[in-house]
Amino acid sequence: MAGVTNVAFRTLCRELEEERAGTTSGLYVCEMVTARALVERHPATMHMTTFGPQESPRSLQLYTVDPATTYAAARMIVTEDLADHIDMNFGCPVPKVTRRGGGSALPYKRRLFGQIVAAAVRATEGTQIPVTVKFRIGIDDAHHTHLDAGRIAEQEGAAAVALHARTAAQRYSGTADWEQIARLKEAVTSIPVLGNGDIFEATDAVAMMAATGCDGVVIGRGCLGRPWLFAELSAAFTGSPTPTPPTLGEVADIIRRHGELLADHFGEDKGMRDIRKHIAWYLHGFPAGADLRRALALVKSLDELDRLLDSLDRDVPFPPAAGGPRGRQGSAASVTLPEGWLDDPDDCTVPAGADVMHSGG
Ligand SMILES: Cc1cc2nc3c(=O)[nH]c(=O)nc-3n(C[C@H](O)[C@H](O)[C@H](O)COP(=O)(O)O)c2cc1C
Repeated sequence: MAGVTNVAFRTLCRELEEERAGTTSGLYVCEMVTARALVERHPATMHMTTFGPQESPRSLQLYTVDPATTYAAARMIVTEDLADHIDMNFGCPVPKVTRRGGGSALPYKRRLFGQIVAAAVRATEGTQIPVTVKFRIGIDDAHHTHLDAGRIAEQEGAAAVALHARTAAQRYSGTADWEQIARLKEAVTSIPVLGNGDIFEATDAVAMMAATGCDGVVIGRGCLGRPWLFAELSAAFTGSPTPTPPTLGEVADIIRRHGELLADHFGEDKGMRDIRKHIAWYLHGFPAGADLRRALALVKSLDELDRLLDSLDRDVPFPPAAGGPRGRQGSAASVTLPEGWLDDPDDCTVPAGADVMHSGG
């Protein structure tokens, strides 16, 4: 997730999964980077591809709109040993991206989509690097593309597909339509199908798998301020007892560790600016007091973070009503597309200017 799953957050999730469930079976995907920025070696993009020394597999997500740049980026990943897994994201619903035919608008162009997937697969041929593809149900209810996208990705050699079970028009609003994950599972028969949308608790993941027959799940907002969710998922999948959710004191320790890891990655100044949004997610549902929340929202140093966290009441148990969406929600809206975009699904012209930097999926 853009702005979230950097090396600091992934390290924290892996540590907590190890500590609380005794395993690290989750696949933690790097923040999305654009293929063009990678190929052009933009310093900020290169920094985003930082992985931990022990991190395995190193999973990199690409945002891309054209086969040639995709091929170049994937070759770079192979020859420079930048990652062990490539995921491609076609889920972004941001108007600035769809307006140019990128993100969740792109799978409508079936042939172009197929050429992009094929380019990444070709670039990784003969390596152990699997290519997986993530997309939404489609542009809106009148333009579903997920079944075609799944079949095309499968045909072109993707190792798995993941469906965020919303249309682009839905953005992050309403509920995900898990029924469409079941439909995709029926359509794609030779590679795993992963389901995504509205998993906030381990029980949601189990319910999604039971309801749809999907082979695994992808977590988005559920892990915002809840990096221990993966330990709960591991336990649920192996039938082990659910680890007890952390008390406020344990959450404070997790925030401190997160802050330290962010400071290592970004330096203390930027690390502290970055931890602020996470703190709001961490404290969601906990009693913390408006003054303390306000002070934490302005935290500037690790020392100050320590001092502020010390004033939390460590004994407060995890609140029962602390689940549900955090991060993006928003409301549904029509999708802005390039002029004439829906006229010809077989047109493979690379959309102009769609390889802009953006965030989200
Ligand atoms: C802050 C934020 C950043 C996101 N960034 C990405 C991203 O970089 N790549 C991606 O595939 N999806 C991204 N997503 C979408 C999530 O991966 C996921 O598909 C979506 O939130 C639906 O799942 P959920 O209901 O579990 O949140 C992002 C979502 C959020 C809230």
